[in-house]
Amino acid sequence: MPESAQQHAAKLAAAHAALRFVEPGMVVGLGSGTTATLFIQLLGERVQQGLQIQGIASSDSSEQLGRSLGIPITSFDQHRSIDVAIDGADEVAPGLALIKGGGGKLLREKIVASASKRFIIVADDTKLVPQLGRFPLPVEVIRMAVPLVTERLVTLGLKPVIRQAKDGSGPYLTDEGNILLDCHSDGIADAAKTAADIRAIVGVVEHGLFLNMAERVLLAGADGVRELTAGERW
Ligand code: A5P
Repeated sequence: MPESAQQHAAKLAAAHAALRFVEPGMVVGLGSGTTATLFIQLLGERVQQGLQIQGIASSDSSEQLGRSLGIPITSFDQHRSIDVAIDGADEVAPGLALIKGGGGKLLREKIVASASKRFIIVADDTKLVPQLGRFPLPVEVIRMAVPLVTERLVTLGLKPVIRQAKDGSGPYLTDEGNILLDCHSDGIADAAKTAADIRAIVGVVEHGLFLNMAERVLLAGADGVRELTAGERW
């Protein structure tokens, strides 16, 4: 569904609010997706104005965008940790439980998040949900294991569907050449259990449940940008 002008403005406001978490000299995790892209563009402007930072990207596309804007790109070969990573989310639930991977980049996004001292989410307020699972949960799977993993996911009550490439060329392939299974459900009541159950399936590379990872969510809507933290109730 094409996004409305209002939703775009909210994403931009959230991306803008994230700039204050970036300080000179930092290694910054560059997320993926439309909201993270807006952040990278704003960060690129700051770099062109003289801000000295380095970026570690969570996808090939974010790396290319960062480089095109003059953001020096580094890697875990040079830096074992990231000062702050800014990324989007597909769903945000209480406790800052997230679903990510709608853009297909969940594996590197989770690696970047796991290496970050601060992991900050930028999102518009359509992403806020009382419980995860309305958005299909992406699971990244080794190609040969897809039939086996599919059966196991079904036994967990999920309805996995192989993601297709937008150009109709066949299954979507991740940056690592894996398959994505988008798992539909009637809601994920116990996200920690679902995460553990999926992780236990051989052939699964990673899943899009990001639990206890985000420090805060910068959530933008018609009333401006709210900051949500894990302890907060809504
Ligand atoms: C990419 O794989 C995702 O995790 C994105 O961060 C997520 O899909 C949010 O994307 P948008 O900012 O485009 O909604």
